[in-house]
Amino acid sequence: MTLTQEAVREITTSIRQNKAPASRRDGIAELRNLAARLGTLTKQERAGLDAAIDDVQVSSKLWLIDELSKVTDVASRQMLVVGAWYGILPLLMNWQLARPPERMLCIDIDPAAVTAGERLIGPLYDNIEYRVADAMTFDYQELGTDGSSIVVNTVCEHLPLFGTWWHLLPEGQFVVLQSNDYFICPDHVNAVTSIDEMQAQAPMQQVLFQGALPLLKWHRFMLIGRK
Ligand SMILES: C[S@@+](CC[C@H](N)C(=O)[O-])C[C@H]1O[C@@H](n2cnc3c(N)ncnc32)[C@H](O)[C@@H]1O
Repeated sequence: MTLTQEAVREITTSIRQNKAPASRRDGIAELRNLAARLGTLTKQERAGLDAAIDDVQVSSKLWLIDELSKVTDVASRQMLVVGAWYGILPLLMNWQLARPPERMLCIDIDPAAVTAGERLIGPLYDNIEYRVADAMTFDYQELGTDGSSIVVNTVCEHLPLFGTWWHLLPEGQFVVLQSNDYFICPDHVNAVTSIDEMQAQAPMQQVLFQGALPLLKWHRFMLIGRK
């Protein structure tokens, strides 16, 4: 699929409003299949999914896809998504990019989120896989050491030992990092005040993108580059 950002927002909004995501796109089998599976989620899973596709989350993911696509061709790459939650980033990549990554492995420490994503999204796409794993013990060599893999971590604000996590990545690793300055959330144990603070936490030999996205009363920060 190659949906525009506006179409993605329209679809995620319609899911949150409990309308069929296909709406005026009934011809798109991917959306019909997703719609058919939404009803299999428990109330709790559905609430979690709705949080994962709220405006702020979707805006942050669309921004990531947009900026990442400008600096590299993701098509030939394997991507690891750390703290992937339900796997919304890989889903949106498949919706937006004509040539999405050939493999997107979603890892999350929460088995409930992994199981729900695996049931809802996993069967629809050959290039999305799920695994319960702790970011702090994952073997980051698993995706190969030839420098072609991409490690995406949009949960930097959630990692209390971010420095330890950063040291786990091989030198030269292509990375996409997101964090924020939303300190009020108790889970955000590693929120940062600025992109400079984030850069100090994650020193890179090559920075390909750095920026801040204004969101409601706070910001999402993003760094793309090579460790
Ligand atoms: C609130 S969610 C995602 C928010 C984030 N801004 C995003 O959408 O990318 C945070 C996720 O990080 C996961 N997480 C937290 N610590 C983790 C760890 N050590 N390893 C793997 N996943 C982790 C949680 O289970 C949860 O699914």
